Amino acid sequence: MEKIRVLKRFEPKRENILSLLHALQRSNPQNYLEEDDLKLVSSYLSLPLSFVISVATFYSMFSLKPRGKYIIRVCESPPCHLMGSGSLVDALKDLLRIEVGQTTPDGLFTLELSSCLGVCGVAPALMVNEEVYGNLTPEKVRSLINDLRREK
Ligand code: FES
Repeated sequence: MEKIRVLKRFEPKRENILSLLHALQRSNPQNYLEEDDLKLVSSYLSLPLSFVISVATFYSMFSLKPRGKYIIRVCESPPCHLMGSGSLVDALKDLLRIEVGQTTPDGLFTLELSSCLGVCGVAPALMVNEEVYGNLTPEKVRSLINDLRREK
């Protein structure tokens, strides 16, 4: 079973819980943690299921519901906000025809907001899955989305 292989890449230690949850979420084409994933982590790390659920629901990078192949997180912290991240969100909402927190009907994109991504020097910034993009404009966002649509 593929999920067991994912688990076995990590030692069954409590401090590996975030890495394990990340790896399981990444292994799911719909970018989320299923109930079975949480149970697997609970049993693998010998931790109460309630603790694993509390960790998975505390961090915004984890989702317990299906998301798109590409998760777009636009930074909304003050430096990015001042540099125009709101216009990026508007452009994305318009291009993808979804609101923040929603996934496109084709399952390709989920739009989310994020706090500082740690790259304020290139504000406004966003992440697509693990990749960070900075110095963005609505025009550059349009081009990025077109590139991602071609990659699918
Ligand atoms: S405020 Fe946006 S990356 Fe830091």
